[in-house]
Amino acid sequence: MVKHLLAIDDVEDDFEMILKWAIEFKRLWKQGDDVATNFMPLDTLAVGSIYEKPSTRTRVSFEVGINRLGGYPLTLLKNDIQLGKSETVGDTSQVLSRFLGAMTYRCFSHSDVAELAKFADVPVLNALSDKHHPCQSAADLMTVLENFKDLDNLTVAWVGDGNNVLHDLMLACAMLGIDIHYAIPKGYEPEKDIVARAEEIAVKNGCKVIATNDPVEAVSNADVVYTDVFISMGEEHLKDKINSFDGFQVNEQMVSNMNDDWRFMHCLPAHRGDEVTDWVMDHKNSIVFDQAENRMWAQMSLLTYLVNEEAWETMGEFMGLI
Ligand code: CP
Ligand code: NVA
Repeated sequence: MVKHLLAIDDVEDDFEMILKWAIEFKRLWKQGDDVATNFMPLDTLAVGSIYEKPSTRTRVSFEVGINRLGGYPLTLLKNDIQLGKSETVGDTSQVLSRFLGAMTYRCFSHSDVAELAKFADVPVLNALSDKHHPCQSAADLMTVLENFKDLDNLTVAWVGDGNNVLHDLMLACAMLGIDIHYAIPKGYEPEKDIVARAEEIAVKNGCKVIATNDPVEAVSNADVVYTDVFISMGEEHLKDKINSFDGFQVNEQMVSNMNDDWRFMHCLPAHRGDEVTDWVMDHKNSIVFDQAENRMWAQMSLLTYLVNEEAWETMGEFMGLI
């Protein structure tokens, strides 16, 4: 059966190993040992990436990562293809399945990436929809694992909008047994079905998902504070939304409530001066550029896992993880 990644809990069973694979692969690469050249997990396969919205990190990390796995990246911008003009998502999916080894899709409506997967004969990875951003949360938790050894006593705080990035972050934290406290202004809460799913996973893994409207309460004694833009792509017409986020800026005063060894995270792009100050973004405890880099390593692990699980396991064994 073809495996897809629409939300991060689609890889719940192997999530921790996917992250460890990425961390070890990155470590070996940095010491000059390119494990992929021995195994070529994407050998001869083209991976097509459809974008309805702009992207810097996702596009570049997929293109470079696919190359490093021995595959061939093909970037398909929405305005240049028939999708959404004269062709349905389902027909596009069936056509692209004849050429490609996998597809990634950045879209407005989550139902479109679900439709692409429904008709696909090859793995589909959600490269951001209005509801989920699983590739981001894989990179985020990889970065958390690189920074903290004791996950049992770790708290991640979210301060901001109840959006796509929070949805997968809370699922991903719950999957690794990490407490997540999120502060959202009234009216911008995350979707109830996703919170319920995160809570169900958290109970299984002995951690907590805690909601509040008070940012200071969320960050108090937390180890990590994470924020994102207040207005996401596709919401540009909701200019007044920003007025609801008074007191939600991550700044020097807010992080003073956190544990001494705090970290700041952001999926980027950041709107400096809105959801975060320069002081926090440029602080030595800000790990936002590690997160951005880790998009590539985490996606390389995810792609190999979804497209060629045998190679993913063999490489895992070779790296001493299995
Ligand atoms: N974080 C993220 O997805 O960035 P891009 O929009 O640049 O891809
Ligand atoms: N929540 C943001 C994330 C961008 C990476 C958006 O959807 O625009």
